[in-house]
Amino acid sequence: MYRTCLKYGTLIFSIIVFVINVSSCKHEPYINPDKPLTISAYCDEDTVYFQNTVLPLLLTNCAVSGCHDQESHKEGVVLTGYTPIIETSGVKYGNPSGSKLYNVLLGRGKGEDDIMPPPPASPFSDEQKQIIFDWISQGALNNSCVGACDTLNVSFSGTVWPLMQTWCAGCHKGNNPGGNIRIENYQDVFAIVENGKLMGSVTHAPGYSPMPKNSGKLSDCQIAEIRIWIENGALDD
Ligand code: HEC
Repeated sequence: MYRTCLKYGTLIFSIIVFVINVSSCKHEPYINPDKPLTISAYCDEDTVYFQNTVLPLLLTNCAVSGCHDQESHKEGVVLTGYTPIIETSGVKYGNPSGSKLYNVLLGRGKGEDDIMPPPPASPFSDEQKQIIFDWISQGALNNSCVGACDTLNVSFSGTVWPLMQTWCAGCHKGNNPGGNIRIENYQDVFAIVENGKLMGSVTHAPGYSPMPKNSGKLSDCQIAEIRIWIENGALDD
């Protein structure tokens, strides 16, 4: 009886030690998943906002099936939202060069050729790398902003293209673009304007696949901007 107790006692003790160890290495000291979401009523042009820019970039380029969505979680990395990104992608607040999330974009991952997204997907553009760099430098906050909706100065280069780059291009470029639809340049966008699929998909109209896939609908302002650009002739301006 005493021996059995001792055995169970040892077993329980080992389990406790194991649990303490596991939970203590789960979070490294720099990780603080409790940074609250802040929403500012004004978009400062020198600030990178996580919810507006960083998250859609990671959702469309990385958090896709077979890579870093919840189910696939390649190498334990899940890039579907603020908390999993902070917990699994080695972000060090204020220190982009020490952050795995940034280093893999430059090909400075574990191995020599460990670049993300891996080929045949195209690497992040310099501008996109800069967005991640600046976001981490600025403290990797869970921030968002609601800018004024500018429906007067709408252009392809200033409004529609940046929006497509952030929310759509990740899945619609390269060798195997989603639905066989490319969004890599003006001509590509014009083609889905002409066949009605752009407005159909972003407004979630019946009969169209709702876009952007796997994330929320674009804001009313973004949809209005696309609509106005189309109504003005969908120019390459
Ligand atoms: C996470 C990947 C992903 C993102 C992000 C994404 N798409 Fe798609 N898209 C797809 C896939 C995959 C399909 C094929 C249909 C399907 O599976 O729903 C598709 C289909 C489409 C279609 C054809 C719809 C139809 O009904 O024929 C259009 C147009 C389109 N996408 C435009 C966009 C636009 C515009 C955005 C950004 C606002 C966007 N996509 C963002 C993956 C994506």
